[in-house]
Amino acid sequence: MKIISHPLVEIMVYEEDSILDKLAVEADLSKLSSKVDGLKRFAEAFYFVRYDFCRLNFIVGERCCTNEFLWAGLARNLYEELGGKNGLSHNQLYRDFLSCVDARPENSLQEPEFARHFNFAWETFCRKAPLAEALSAIAIYEIFDVPDYQLLLRVMKKADVSQLGLRFFQVHAAAEHFGMFEDVVSWLREQEGGESAFNRAKEFVFQTQTEMWRGLIAHLQEQTTDCCV
Ligand SMILES: [Fe+2]
Repeated sequence: MKIISHPLVEIMVYEEDSILDKLAVEADLSKLSSKVDGLKRFAEAFYFVRYDFCRLNFIVGERCCTNEFLWAGLARNLYEELGGKNGLSHNQLYRDFLSCVDARPENSLQEPEFARHFNFAWETFCRKAPLAEALSAIAIYEIFDVPDYQLLLRVMKKADVSQLGLRFFQVHAAAEHFGMFEDVVSWLREQEGGESAFNRAKEFVFQTQTEMWRGLIAHLQEQTTDCCV
């Protein structure tokens, strides 16, 4: 399944796919998911990477003040995360996934160290980077939905996750949320220094995401065993 609507999206998807290949994310996650409680541990750790990502939209949105052109993409994105007109919210889809794999209750989950670093880096960037960079970073991250979730969907199918649990991954594997930011990103890149601001945002997103994949795999390797003892 390929969803490409913009040359910029095509480049980013290609680059993220190359990183996923280089890190062997699919092979490692497939192997780890087949271990004892591997799927549960994945669901519980990934919860901290993706469950509350909407919050960053609010942080950046608050910085856009009265300029609705700047916050429009964030608002559209949040509406989609709420399920749009008739769909289920992002959080409900993830809750369904957690319950399908018998994960521990949400309020008992502990944020792994790699996720704490990831979330701290993102929150700091969204609060402190120049607004053009913070906004571009959110838009760029939306592009990652397709390569990342297409991979995760294959891993979850291989691990026999039920249809209810797969929906979270199916929805994101087909998401085209960058389109919501296309106008503001084009405008930002045309401003003085805009192209270099965009490139710094891109570097930040690729770096944090690469570290996240490495951290997630290392965490699961520590948390899972090959067989019952
Ligand atoms: Fe989502």
